[in-house]
Amino acid sequence: MNAKAGSLPLPEIDIEEFRKVVRTRRSIRRFTDEPIPEAVLEDCLELATLAPNSSNLQPWEFFVVRTPELKAELAHACLGQNAAKTAAALIVVVARPDSWRAHARQALEDWPEEKLPPIVEKYYRKVAPIHYNQGPLGILGLAKKAAGLAVGITRPVPRGPYSNCEMKIWATKSTALAAQNLMLALRAHGYDSCPMEGFDEHRVKKLINLSGKGLVTMVLAAGRRAENGVYNRQYRFDQRQMVHYL
Ligand SMILES: Cc1cc2nc3c(=O)[nH]c(=O)nc-3n(C[C@H](O)[C@H](O)[C@H](O)COP(=O)(O)O)c2cc1C
Repeated sequence: MNAKAGSLPLPEIDIEEFRKVVRTRRSIRRFTDEPIPEAVLEDCLELATLAPNSSNLQPWEFFVVRTPELKAELAHACLGQNAAKTAAALIVVVARPDSWRAHARQALEDWPEEKLPPIVEKYYRKVAPIHYNQGPLGILGLAKKAAGLAVGITRPVPRGPYSNCEMKIWATKSTALAAQNLMLALRAHGYDSCPMEGFDEHRVKKLINLSGKGLVTMVLAAGRRAENGVYNRQYRFDQRQMVHYL
């Protein structure tokens, strides 16, 4: 990557094209038999991983299931939902609360510019190992929480993650953003998706050989939308209920 990448001129962006992608994305419950070309899937997955993520530690993994046998078993683990049964591909989107240490090392190795800024080196070598390490049985997390509570009386301090449970939330936030990029990318390519949390996580993890620490954030059903793929008109609650201008 160019060291001056940040100063490259920005391309013109058509808001109407973006609006079309966002507005036509729906959760699709039935897909046609048409497969998704490999190049399309690869592009969508690359766009997914360009999602913003905490400390650029990229705490995610994607398992793309296309073989009919495994897909059928996975659809069964997704409680037999039509979206899963008819999808051309099922993508298991996994959050990794446990990959931060290896990824912090990798971030130093993969730094895309010739010179590693000292502040970046300090962050990945010293700050991150304190910030994300919860210690055996979460003891370090508890100590950090106590210290944070004391110091926090007089100045702003980070209020977590202070436990292994909060590390799950930490990893899931970034992973969900990647999942959204993936769904919008599929839409931009003319394909569709359905995010699903209706699944048996124990069975899903077994089917994809996922170790204990990985969390299945969503299973995404993906494919070409069938004519009867949308079950109802899209609606949202009144913005005034949800958006607060302060
Ligand atoms: C985390 C999450 C889990 C979901 N789980 C399911 C699911 O298991 N099955 C399903 O049919 N839809 C599922 N959905 C889709 C929602 O029902 C859908 O997004 C919502 O009804 C709004 O419809 P729209 O996506 O078409 O705008 C899920 C969506 C999200 C974000």
